Amino acid sequence: MNAKASDGRSLKQMLRDRVNKQGWYDTPDYWDMKAESYEGLARSNWPSNRYNEHVHRRQMATLDRLLGDVEGLRIADVGCGTGRTSAHLGRRGAIVTGWDFSPKSIAAAEKEHADVPNLTFRVGDVFEAPEADQRDAFDVVMTLGCLTLACKNADDFRRAAQNLIARAKPGGRVLFLEPVHASRLLRRILRMSMREWIRHCEALGLELETRGGVCFVPSRILLAYRDMLPANLVTPVFDGGEAVLDAHPLFERLADYKYLVFRKKH
Ligand SMILES: C[S@@+](CC[C@H](N)C(=O)[O-])C[C@H]1O[C@@H](n2cnc3c(N)ncnc32)[C@H](O)[C@@H]1O
Repeated sequence: MNAKASDGRSLKQMLRDRVNKQGWYDTPDYWDMKAESYEGLARSNWPSNRYNEHVHRRQMATLDRLLGDVEGLRIADVGCGTGRTSAHLGRRGAIVTGWDFSPKSIAAAEKEHADVPNLTFRVGDVFEAPEADQRDAFDVVMTLGCLTLACKNADDFRRAAQNLIARAKPGGRVLFLEPVHASRLLRRILRMSMREWIRHCEALGLELETRGGVCFVPSRILLAYRDMLPANLVTPVFDGGEAVLDAHPLFERLADYKYLVFRKKH
């Protein structure tokens, strides 16, 4: 007899999906469940909120450095989860729209960041083409840890990237901060190297401005799942890993998250 899960998948398929992380990270149900069952940053990120605080600090500092002054800029944050990045940019004066396909993450984002001005959250899928008033409308279009979960292969990536690029004004920026990995061990769902990512984006009319990496992989393996180290050791371990990444561009391959900033050609 072939046992089936309640959603009709066979157990073999479920195991295969678990290894490939498909049918979990790429479904709104999974993120709805996280939004309801976890607390704080863990609703959209790693189980350890101690680690998440460090990742948040590092990722937001990276965005600030890459984007510069965002006062008055229109920014689209696609796959915004519970809205930490949208709110950060909104507090710095940007006019931000956050999209996510998880209705419960969007509800949590609206509730948590109700005090931030010029911030709108919407339920939406990265594979849906943007509505007419959302096309060529944003100075910056960004994803943080969304495309590498949403896309199974290069075809998916091109479809999603096209929808993102369509949202950017000509001359506007498209920024990815994503766990871009070709290795089976480190990739999320999408298996794609930095070289392939850049090649696809250039074919879709983007020009690369800068690239690099943050969030040292060994710290993530040690710290993200359980609070194993005492609090006073977590900061030096995390910061030490980031110092390695900052020491030389060659260490980019040791970064869990890669940043790529592109300019949309006129
Ligand atoms: C790892 S979380 C990151 C959330 C947020 N960007 C952050 O860094 O806190 C990935 C997010 O991508 C969203 N997502 C995954 N696939 C999506 C899709 N096809 N369309 C829209 N959002 C998607 C999930 O719902 C989830 O909130």
